[in-house]
Amino acid sequence: MTFHQVDHPLLVIPGSIEVSDDVLFANASPSQSHMSKSFTETFGAAIKMFRQVLVTERGQPIITAGSGTLGWDMIACNLTEPGDEVLVLHSGYFGQSFADCFETYGVKVTQLKAPVGQCPSREQLAEALKSKKYKIITVTHVDTSTGVLSNPQIVAEVVREVSPDTLVALDGVCSVGSEEIRMDEWGLDVVMCASQKGLGVPPGLCLVCASERAIKAVETRKTKINSYFASWLNWLPIMRGYEQGKPLYFATPPVQLICALNVSLKAITSKPIEERWTKHKQASTDFKQFITNELGLKQVPQDPSIAANGMTAIYFPDGISAPDIIPRLVERGIIVAGGLHKDIKDKYFRVGHMGITATDTETRHDLEKVKEALRNVFKDAGYTNPTA
Ligand SMILES: Cc1ncc(COP(=O)(O)O)c(C=O)c1O
Repeated sequence: MTFHQVDHPLLVIPGSIEVSDDVLFANASPSQSHMSKSFTETFGAAIKMFRQVLVTERGQPIITAGSGTLGWDMIACNLTEPGDEVLVLHSGYFGQSFADCFETYGVKVTQLKAPVGQCPSREQLAEALKSKKYKIITVTHVDTSTGVLSNPQIVAEVVREVSPDTLVALDGVCSVGSEEIRMDEWGLDVVMCASQKGLGVPPGLCLVCASERAIKAVETRKTKINSYFASWLNWLPIMRGYEQGKPLYFATPPVQLICALNVSLKAITSKPIEERWTKHKQASTDFKQFITNELGLKQVPQDPSIAANGMTAIYFPDGISAPDIIPRLVERGIIVAGGLHKDIKDKYFRVGHMGITATDTETRHDLEKVKEALRNVFKDAGYTNPTA
């Protein structure tokens, strides 16, 4: 059967993203037992393919119902114990939320905050790591509130130099599937994400991947894990079981979503992952050039080298605000996101270009449609590019 989803407004917020017909159809798979042979194969294959996306051989994926937020809880409750010190690198709204999550578990958080549009420097990071012994350092790879791209490879390198026992955790919710990540080579201990962004699946899955060092840390902790559902000790046998073709039960997996994940990961891993990163970079560069050159607008990241490839955060020009632009885009069938970072909330908007919006340039032309709509709505709002 050939399935085509109904016509709908083009969703170009920085997640959830547009989902392919194949993935959406898999999300409507008929009921099957979560202990069946067919589902065990589907889940086991998804676990293996997720490793390929993160370029890891040794990492252990844990895929459950949930969202990115559950990934924070998993990292906090499994890898820290009450009273531990944690360093959160803050490049926007989501760093603050990760810090709040740690505090829920009685962990002492230090945030290394960068001004809006920037991320902490290598020197600031080294200095912070020298000042205290941290159990974990966290990096938001792409902070979705600012579109700032951090460099987890450099972070892991500095950690190895200055504080090698500190675990490195990556919030990859807005980067897995759209940005380069090499978990083993860079020495990342945990990568967490969700289904609804660069992996191109509807929302509802939390995906984490833990290094051998992270697993050892949870297995040798002194205190009890302060969560039942989020405890990796409950999930590890389940994940290993599905991968070995021997289904085990802890909590019912979201069967249809995992079928959808399997189909999306098959498409993603059918080509070298480097090609996917390059496609996202090309789409992003082209769109950002349009924003700068044709519209004459500034972006939130203060330098192109720290701008995400899966989204663009754009300041409104003087005299123009969200109500002049966003409803006009809606009238043209384009859904973008408003501001989120509290310091600049009303001053900017965000466009997502992850997944098929970035990669399927042959049949979809999503970003061409967005560009055309932006040209028109800025003109309708009375704006002309002063530099043109
Ligand atoms: C960078 C980042 N981290 C964490 C989250 C939380 O994920 P979720 O909304 O799936 O719970 C988000 C959500 O957009 C995010 O962008």
